[in-house]
Amino acid sequence: MLPPRSVLITGASRGLGLEFVKQFLQVPTPPEFLFATCRNPDNAKELQEVAKSNSSITIMKLDVSEMNTIEEAKKLVESKVGDGGLNLLINNAGINKRVTLDTVTPDMMLDTFNINVNGPLFTTKAFLPLLLKAAISSTPSNPSSAIVNMSSIMSSIARTVTSDAVEYRVSKSALNMLTKILHNELKDKGIHVGCLHPGWVQTDMGTAKAPVTVSQSVCGCIQVMSNMNAENACVLTDYTGNPLPW
Ligand SMILES: NC(=O)c1ccc[n+]([C@@H]2O[C@H](COP(=O)([O-])OP(=O)(O)OC[C@H]3O[C@@H](n4cnc5c(N)ncnc54)[C@H](OP(=O)(O)O)[C@@H]3O)[C@@H](O)[C@H]2O)c1
Repeated sequence: MLPPRSVLITGASRGLGLEFVKQFLQVPTPPEFLFATCRNPDNAKELQEVAKSNSSITIMKLDVSEMNTIEEAKKLVESKVGDGGLNLLINNAGINKRVTLDTVTPDMMLDTFNINVNGPLFTTKAFLPLLLKAAISSTPSNPSSAIVNMSSIMSSIARTVTSDAVEYRVSKSALNMLTKILHNELKDKGIHVGCLHPGWVQTDMGTAKAPVTVSQSVCGCIQVMSNMNAENACVLTDYTGNPLPW
């Protein structure tokens, strides 16, 4: 896809989301508008520090489990991007409680589903009018609008050989299905919809034991996004560009 004029990232307070903000500032044609959303902007000290010296960044409250914050964020984005719309939505926010069949409860399942599946679904629905605006100027071979869902290799039914992280695996498999549904709905409207596995990454979620640094992961993810096209968009792809089985 084209270098995006505007990008919105959920869960930008830390981990991969924060690194996306940092690395989008470094690409050859940085976005004019970088919407860094998080559920507690006041606590996102590192993000605030990055934003101090970069006027393209707007920090906004957006809790993917609270519709009113999604709607408020949409209004603010709309007022800034105007007719250009929103080019790239990265549904990055996510949780992983790592529960087992012994410890899982109905509330844990619902909580994780709410953030990892309802979050991307209703964030996407809210921002769809703005993504469609950006897509109006696109052509099938040169789309200017995309939605990227941060999935995981742990979503892959074909690759699952253990029974850990029940709620996380189930929710990310559902996110893959959501990606396919959105792709089917939006492919003829100039919006690419894809899902990425960022690798096992050194974040709070990935822990220090992970082999991949946040910098390596996000650098790879941005590369994969920039190569997204109508054929390869709706494939579970890792941060090095390798396709993974669903
Ligand atoms: N790290 C890995 O190895 C790995 C591997 C595969 C996939 N992923 C996926 O990549 C994405 C980012 O992971 P990460 O490693 O950066 O995780 P992380 O370090 O745990 O950060 C998670 C982010 O999500 C935000 N978040 C949680 N609940 C939210 C909500 N209700 N509304 C808005 N934001 C919320 C957190 O905000 P707060 O600061 O407010 O808590 C934080 O910014 C996730 O979707 C994850 O499943 C990660």
